[in-house]
Amino acid sequence: MPSFSELMQGNGVFRDKNVLSPHFVPSQLLFRDEEIKRVMQAVMPVLKGSRARNLFVYGKTGTGKTCVAKHVLLKLDEERNLRAKSVYLNCRIYDSRYKIMQKVISHFNPSSAKTGYSFAHLYDRFLDWIEGPGDEGADGKNMVLVLDEVDVVKDLDNLIYTLTRANDDLKKGSVSVIGISNKINFKQRLDTRSKSALCEDEVVFQPYDAQQLQGILDQRVAKGFADDVVLPGAINLASAIAAGDNGDARYALALLLRAGEVGERKKIEKISEKEVEEARKAADEDKAAEIIGSLPEHQKLVLYALAVVTDDVHYKRLVEEEGEKYYFSGEVYERYRAMAKKMGQDPRTSRWYREYLHELETLGLINSIESGKGVRGHATLLRLAYESSKIKSIVEKTVVRE
Ligand SMILES: Nc1ncnc2c1ncn2[C@@H]1O[C@H](COP(=O)(O)OP(=O)(O)O)[C@@H](O)[C@H]1O
Ligand SMILES: [Mg+2]
Repeated sequence: MPSFSELMQGNGVFRDKNVLSPHFVPSQLLFRDEEIKRVMQAVMPVLKGSRARNLFVYGKTGTGKTCVAKHVLLKLDEERNLRAKSVYLNCRIYDSRYKIMQKVISHFNPSSAKTGYSFAHLYDRFLDWIEGPGDEGADGKNMVLVLDEVDVVKDLDNLIYTLTRANDDLKKGSVSVIGISNKINFKQRLDTRSKSALCEDEVVFQPYDAQQLQGILDQRVAKGFADDVVLPGAINLASAIAAGDNGDARYALALLLRAGEVGERKKIEKISEKEVEEARKAADEDKAAEIIGSLPEHQKLVLYALAVVTDDVHYKRLVEEEGEKYYFSGEVYERYRAMAKKMGQDPRTSRWYREYLHELETLGLINSIESGKGVRGHATLLRLAYESSKIKSIVEKTVVRE
């Protein structure tokens, strides 16, 4: 029997898997010197005892916003300034003004973690704490509050208003906000006042290109994988795929991690393009499963009906276009109707059905084309964007029980 440590080592593909996890913050961030400097400049005033500038950080997923923000907070801590305080919160967890305020207070004063206080009470505690003596008696603190994924805060206008007002109410010390988001339209939802308060300063993170992603991957591979396990072709491919997908470094890292796991399972010694391809396919399918899981029941059934038609070996009337097999929409609809009835449900009308097809196509789950003349006039032809067996098993897990 293997020991735990033998098991944990696997067959030597990985050196330290943690390094490849999305939560790992590398000590050296590549290609972000300018962005780091901009965030540092916004924060810098707290080291001189005044209020930091509010900053809004925008950029697509995986462009390094979170790790840059955490990196700057670490650097701020290293200054050991007695009055400079910072806290990082992810708003997916703390998604309201109340929860944020409560968390900030309990972060600095764990004994006050009780719930049930009114907001007004929390607010007063907050002001008291900022005005009060810091470590070794320094009076009045300057706090930087990093709100990651700030767009999910339900009452964000209220929150920004409160934090702005706090600076007026405070006799000593200050509070400022770094808001981070990957939603481009989110600023439009804010009212003018909170928008201008939050966006005193703004930094935009551009997507990484393939070469930069390669640099980021090289750095992690050296730490995360055993020597010479990952072939250069695998890194190239993972970088190219992620560059094509909004320059998302998280996706690039996830592909490599997964490719490594594929290699581990197959007990092979080298990770090549083939394993990255497999990882990509699995990642795509995960994404599809997530999308399918959140579809309304009848859309799932329509998708399932197309999978059943696709798998039907007696079904001869398919059309081949550029090497892909397409099936008649009308017949998929009949199959759907039969399935719905069997499940004791009223099938939707064909108008709804066309609407569903449109949505399924927009979500990237199916492809449709219009048939040329000759094949029963104008018919809509459909095919699945994923393997029918995969679609079936995903849908079966969530709805169909025959
Ligand atoms: N410049 C970089 N150097 C090294 N690793 C990076 C860099 N940018 C992003 N990463 C890594 O990519 C992943 C995603 O970065 P993250 O900061 O979470 O992106 P975002 O918050 O913009 O979605 C993390 O694992 C992070 O460590
Ligand atoms: Mg992030």
